[in-house]
Amino acid sequence: MSLSPAFLDELRARTSLSTLIGRTVKVQKAGREYKACCPFHNEKTPSFTINDEKGFYHCFGCGAHGDAIRWMTDQRGLPFMDAVKELAAAAGMDVPAPDPRAAKRAEQAKGLHDAMAAAQAFFEEQLGGIEGAEARAYLQKRSISDATRRAFGFGYAPDSRGRLKAALKDFGEPMLVEAGLLIAPEGERETYDRFRGRLMLPIRDIRGRVIAFGGRILGAGEPKYLNSPDTPLFDKGRTLYNIDKASPASRNSGRIIVVEGYMDVIALAQAGFADAVAPLGTALTEHQIERLWKMVDVPVLCFDGDSAGQKAAIRAALRALPLLRPGMSLAFATLPPGQDPDDLLRESGAAAFEAVLIGAEPLVDRLWKHEQSAAPLDTPEQRAALKQRLRALTDAIADADVRAHYVQIFRQRYDALFFARSAPGEQQRAPRGESRPGWKRDKRGKWQPPVPPAGGEARAIGATGMEQRLLRAVLAGLLRHPEQVALHRETLLTLSIADPLLAQLLDSMIAASFSKETVESDGLLTILGQGELYNMAKGMLRADTFTITPYSKDGDAGRAQRDLAEVVRVMAQGPELERELAAATQRVMDDVTEDNLLAQQRALTAHRDHLIRLAELVQPEEHM
Ligand code: UTP
Ligand code: MN
Repeated sequence: MSLSPAFLDELRARTSLSTLIGRTVKVQKAGREYKACCPFHNEKTPSFTINDEKGFYHCFGCGAHGDAIRWMTDQRGLPFMDAVKELAAAAGMDVPAPDPRAAKRAEQAKGLHDAMAAAQAFFEEQLGGIEGAEARAYLQKRSISDATRRAFGFGYAPDSRGRLKAALKDFGEPMLVEAGLLIAPEGERETYDRFRGRLMLPIRDIRGRVIAFGGRILGAGEPKYLNSPDTPLFDKGRTLYNIDKASPASRNSGRIIVVEGYMDVIALAQAGFADAVAPLGTALTEHQIERLWKMVDVPVLCFDGDSAGQKAAIRAALRALPLLRPGMSLAFATLPPGQDPDDLLRESGAAAFEAVLIGAEPLVDRLWKHEQSAAPLDTPEQRAALKQRLRALTDAIADADVRAHYVQIFRQRYDALFFARSAPGEQQRAPRGESRPGWKRDKRGKWQPPVPPAGGEARAIGATGMEQRLLRAVLAGLLRHPEQVALHRETLLTLSIADPLLAQLLDSMIAASFSKETVESDGLLTILGQGELYNMAKGMLRADTFTITPYSKDGDAGRAQRDLAEVVRVMAQGPELERELAAATQRVMDDVTEDNLLAQQRALTAHRDHLIRLAELVQPEEHM
């Protein structure tokens, strides 16, 4: 029988999870959560957390995860209905009487599930048998190990119109047709097996039940993959291939990778990336994006660097815009042109794929880059057209807060591109028509990411939102306390700032810091004249603008001054670190060891954490 989601939600809400779990294991309060030694694996220090508010438990050690009902089924070993009944009794709720129609649907679904399970067993058996030889050879050719073959349930559909039909005859033809396993031609003609002479891949739901199949042709021919039609069990727009394994894996990794094909998911899993899914031959649907967001806040979408792949990336980006919410976004990783993840792993190894992931761009950057390179930007009209395109993008964002930030970031970048003091925009613009600028083939024909020349020009500061915020905050702080400029002059002089107006403001402040008379904010303002610069500085001096101030509220001036120096130093270091990271990535591609890669990742993460801590010094803008 099936219970309504509303009833189950109510049941969860009325159950105190920590109390429930506390009956079996000793729980301790830790902040807003509770912790305990995990009852699902052996441990001495508690890594099992319980969040009453969200109604979930999670173990950081073994990945065990669930709600109150899951606790009763997994820990207490009760069947689902018994778990619900016991919880409902404790919560003083009545379990609703079974709805006969729902019961009938559930009955029918059970039949379909059984049929799919039987088909899966049949295909697997065939792969192991005499007729499966060619398919086994194909798997070997693609370097798919026996362990991977078992984990993903590979099978083989014999090249016959009636073998499956005969093997599963007990289910009756109508059910096999409904399950999509048999094709029923128009008129009186006989039903026959849908999948013939194909390598079979089961598609599973989140609970691991087979709900559909994809069948790959062994040689050349059309279609390359034949998939189950939509059935009562299978709606391809609402399913993600490998979600049953990737969902738990994502809880440990905090990541979800979305690739295009079945074989990409499988090759990734074999290379140690268990947290990958794929849509089923279609562009990502809204439903699939929402499903991904249930697992992580920012899924990473991997696309081929060729033009078809990049079109697909933009399609996904546009589809996500109306759905964006605070915290929820997409990131875009771009593969070397003409390679899917499976190819890249085979040719260049896991570290090369890891490097692609590290290079993933935030949605905002991907959209900006796309619009900026979509058409020439030489004439005033063309430039205005860019503004219009950006406007169309932000208009598509439904969430007001997210939209406001997109508007602001696009405006800043647009202004920096066209209203720069010197060399308007030209060098900042990515070469047109090149989706992954700088990737080159090496001697062995492998694609390699760009490496900026060591000691070359570092990029200007202010390219990312966080940097912009920090920079503005620092400048606002200095404007309020111009006497501080001289103290930090050395470091300030090394900053290369992307935004022309901000750069000019800093230049003026540094110039003024050499003279004795201008240690007051007002004095500084008069030096700035009456133009745009003056207006901006005046705005920054308003009480509600965020600022890093060298004088903290508790009067520890020395400490606050050190904070300011630290912010300036880290900001100046950002571009340098990025350059080092790119060079390190290159070294890793040349000399692939996991330690190498992990060390670099740690360095980058540490830098990012540092930036985040510094950003906390910045008070939030009040008008947001
Ligand atoms: P691709 O054509 O990129 O194939 O299709 P692939 O994943 O690289 O497969 P291999 O490596 O040649 O075996 C990407 C995805 O599009 C769907 C499948 O889900 C496939 O994994 N597709 C493709 C179909 O459904 N039918 C097709 O005929 C082709
Ligand atoms: Mn492929």
